[in-house]
Amino acid sequence: MIVKLSVKGLHFSYGSAEILRDVNLDIRDGQVVSIVGPNGSGKSTLIKCIDRILNPSKGEVIVDRQKVSGMKQMELARMIAYVPQNSLRVFPNTVFDVVLMGRRPHLGWREEARDEQKVWEVLGLLGIEDLALSLFTELSGGQQQKVLIARALAQETGVILLDEPTSNLDVWHQIDVMEILRTLVRSQDLTAIIAIHDLNTAARYSDTIIMMKGGKIFAAGRPEDVLTSENLAAVYGIHARVRNYDDIPHVIPLKQIPRKRGRV
Ligand SMILES: Nc1ncnc2c1ncn2[C@@H]1O[C@H](COP(=O)(O)OP(=O)(O)OP(=O)(O)O)[C@@H](O)[C@H]1O
Ligand SMILES: [Mg+2]
Repeated sequence: MIVKLSVKGLHFSYGSAEILRDVNLDIRDGQVVSIVGPNGSGKSTLIKCIDRILNPSKGEVIVDRQKVSGMKQMELARMIAYVPQNSLRVFPNTVFDVVLMGRRPHLGWREEARDEQKVWEVLGLLGIEDLALSLFTELSGGQQQKVLIARALAQETGVILLDEPTSNLDVWHQIDVMEILRTLVRSQDLTAIIAIHDLNTAARYSDTIIMMKGGKIFAAGRPEDVLTSENLAAVYGIHARVRNYDDIPHVIPLKQIPRKRGRV
């Protein structure tokens, strides 16, 4: 097994609040890995620690046998791309220029024809060439989400982290994005790590599902081993049925297990 990315004994705190506790992962090359878990369970925090947007208080992230903590920024950007959950930064730029930003780790002093060609290639892959000259700020939420995915793919990294990449997409575009990611993972040895709430999409497209609860990994493995009624009860506090369809587990949430109302 070739390990692409390891997380070893990772802890992260915001002030005195410990958010991630002893997270350990070995992710193989060429896999689609989904991270699931309730709101606030630490999915985005883990993804940000992997991409060094946040600094863990303890532990290490290792990509291609190199510690992320010791890398130069551009070196890291050639290895890991990141699609944020919320794009707070507003780009008053054209879609073409936003996607071209993904080429920055590869650019020399001048834009090369190859970089522009790569931008057109990913815009084509995601079916958004016709938006190339539109302003990013004037797009719908779903269109913006596809542009940010395009930007990350233009970065041509071995690892892509996507934080809820399908949350603003209609079902057609959800399937489109997940199919594209799976195809790239299979054909180019890309490793995709995706935080996602839709358990059935996660089951259909993932080789591995990581289920988080309270800043820890509660379960990890094949979808059929992780998405069990017992785990769904323990992690989400719901009664659910799990049924196979197309040999893929499908979760049918039935009702909440009574509890004191928790915070979201
Ligand atoms: N900037 C911050 N300052 C303090 N606490 C934070 C900050 N960002 C997140 N947290 C806390 O860290 C915990 C984990 O948050 P995180 O965003 O990783 O959850 P998540 O699993 O991605 O949730 P969601 O499904 O809602 O996106 C939460 O309890 C949250 O309140
Ligand atoms: Mg999140």
